Amino acid sequence: MLPTATAYFCTFAHLFAQADKLFFRIKMDQLQSLDRSKLPAHIAIIMDGNGRWAKDRGQDRVYGHYEGVVSVREIVNACGEIGIQYLTLYAFSAENWNRPKAEVDALMELLVNTIRKEAEELKKNNVKLHVIGDFASLPEVCQKELNEAKDITSMNTGLNLILALSYSSRQEIVMAAKKIGEGIAKGEIKAEDVTEASFHNYLYTAPFPDPELMIRTSGEYRISNYLLYQLAYAELYFTNVHWPDFRKPNLIEALLNYQQRERRFGKTSEQIQTTNPQHV
Ligand code: FPP
Repeated sequence: MLPTATAYFCTFAHLFAQADKLFFRIKMDQLQSLDRSKLPAHIAIIMDGNGRWAKDRGQDRVYGHYEGVVSVREIVNACGEIGIQYLTLYAFSAENWNRPKAEVDALMELLVNTIRKEAEELKKNNVKLHVIGDFASLPEVCQKELNEAKDITSMNTGLNLILALSYSSRQEIVMAAKKIGEGIAKGEIKAEDVTEASFHNYLYTAPFPDPELMIRTSGEYRISNYLLYQLAYAELYFTNVHWPDFRKPNLIEALLNYQQRERRFGKTSEQIQTTNPQHV
């Protein structure tokens, strides 16, 4: 006969193992119910709620950012496995420079350390790193680490991971307008040749298709100066889950929700159903 404490421990361990198997099965079922022909090529995420997540646990905001990196790793791996081609993460906005210096410093240090630690892993997992935003405004050590990671992963052909850093969509649009204006002044561009497609070429995101799905965590219903031009026809998905709790099952839930949407691009439902009957 086992001593009581050991018996309880064994029973709990057994129950946990069973629950774990059950959750794994549910996750696998969810994964299998994804329609592979209806995946977004590009997902953009606003990773919000790190501070509140930490506060709920009586911790400093920075603790939330550290835990947020765990979610970043899991979501990057999940996107690679599922076959998403582009993932843009809003890691630091131009407006975030206005946060308390200690938090900004901690975020920059976290970024440097994470990139340094993960670059080889990204390479191994066939992830290609890109950065959008005001690169020159980042601390030199940050720029150096990012440039190295971009070099290391430059030959990869799988997921394109795009980090939005010191990023402001309005600044990006103004910058594009300025470049076009300069081109016109120099006689290199004709005003009548400026189109929606050519305008796209002046944005940071020129090499990438527009996101079809934008996810924002933490229960806020805002775009916060993020990819304003590029999100014109994106499906928006908001969840109350704070970023440090947002993991693979949450991503699959967002994708399943996306797959139920009818993307009409201004047309009628009937028109969409006639041209795309398999997507009804
Ligand atoms: C928003 O939460 C989050 C940020 C401003 C930073 C996001 C950064 C990370 C997840 C870690 C670094 C990322 C990489 C790619 C290494 P918040 O602080 O605004 O949360 P709150 O709204 O609850 O205050």
